[in-house]
Amino acid sequence: MQEKLAALASEARQEMGRADSPEAVEALRVKYLGKKGLLAGVLGGMGKLPPDERRGLGEVANRVKAELEGLLAEAVARAEEAALQAELSGTAVDVTLPGRVLRPGRRHPVSRTMEEITQVFRRLGFEVAAGPEIELDFYNFEALNLPKDHPARDMQDTFYVDSRWLAAPPSGPVLLRTHTSPVQVRSMLSSRPPVRVICPGRVYRRDSDVTHTPMFHQVEGLLVDVDVSFAELKGTLDAFVKAFFGAATQVRLRPSFFPFTEPSAEVDITCTACGGKGCRICKQTGWLEVLGAGMVHPNVLTAGGVDASRYTGFAFGLGVERITMLRYGLDDLRSLFENDPRFLEQF
Ligand code: PHE
Repeated sequence: MQEKLAALASEARQEMGRADSPEAVEALRVKYLGKKGLLAGVLGGMGKLPPDERRGLGEVANRVKAELEGLLAEAVARAEEAALQAELSGTAVDVTLPGRVLRPGRRHPVSRTMEEITQVFRRLGFEVAAGPEIELDFYNFEALNLPKDHPARDMQDTFYVDSRWLAAPPSGPVLLRTHTSPVQVRSMLSSRPPVRVICPGRVYRRDSDVTHTPMFHQVEGLLVDVDVSFAELKGTLDAFVKAFFGAATQVRLRPSFFPFTEPSAEVDITCTACGGKGCRICKQTGWLEVLGAGMVHPNVLTAGGVDASRYTGFAFGLGVERITMLRYGLDDLRSLFENDPRFLEQF
């Protein structure tokens, strides 16, 4: 039996010395040390031997087992090292290759346009105001002279928030604001006239096509003071348009309707592409519609806590995406929100 063990050990030494892959080493482990391996096989015969022979044999068997385990561990280390060397030599590092460039980010064209619009109005004396994007029906509609069931609400369908889960559910519906106009009311309520604010921000509508996305940006303007006239509205817009689009740009007001302004106007500017001669961009009219405006409705002043018999005001709202598209000559609004760096890097 001793001889069998010695033979087994010497055979194992040779085989393990040759094993050159992790798989080969594992096969040898199973062959020699596995449950049904050669060592277990030899030791299986031990039970039949007389007790005194068995004792001496046990020691020898343990030594052989320890030796085999040591050899295995070495073989594993060698095989792993060999595998690593093979891998490294196959994919040598070429130190002359150019490094990976970290491309600096840049501001989104919509953010840039919005900031530049805001800058122009700051120079005209407007302060920046902000309001929540998740808004109460009251500020988004009711206080803007758009009572429940008012037909003009149809043009501004939006997304509603299930407010039952809020700790303190408000009495009216909670929604994503459809325009920045609720900030008009919030600004009037939080200060005294004169109020001169500009509010850039995100708004939402249930709309989606080439010229509409469910989320877009607006810049709202509001000025409330004594003796504010329509002429001042036009003068302010004219100053903005000339500062933003260039000194040659003309402004035209067309009568329109908004529940929160009276009178109301759509504001056009001379086409930024053809200068007013008529082209594809302005559909041969020479004019581009860029914003809505008007004199703040007395009901809105009242909802804002302002004495409508003493004060008047004007308000306007413009779509930032539309202005961004005009400015950069884009024809699909959605390209602004696809987040393709190849597109965004051009601005
Ligand atoms: N809130 C209007 C809209 O989103 C724009 C507007 C603002 C019109 C202020 C008049 C005055 O269509």
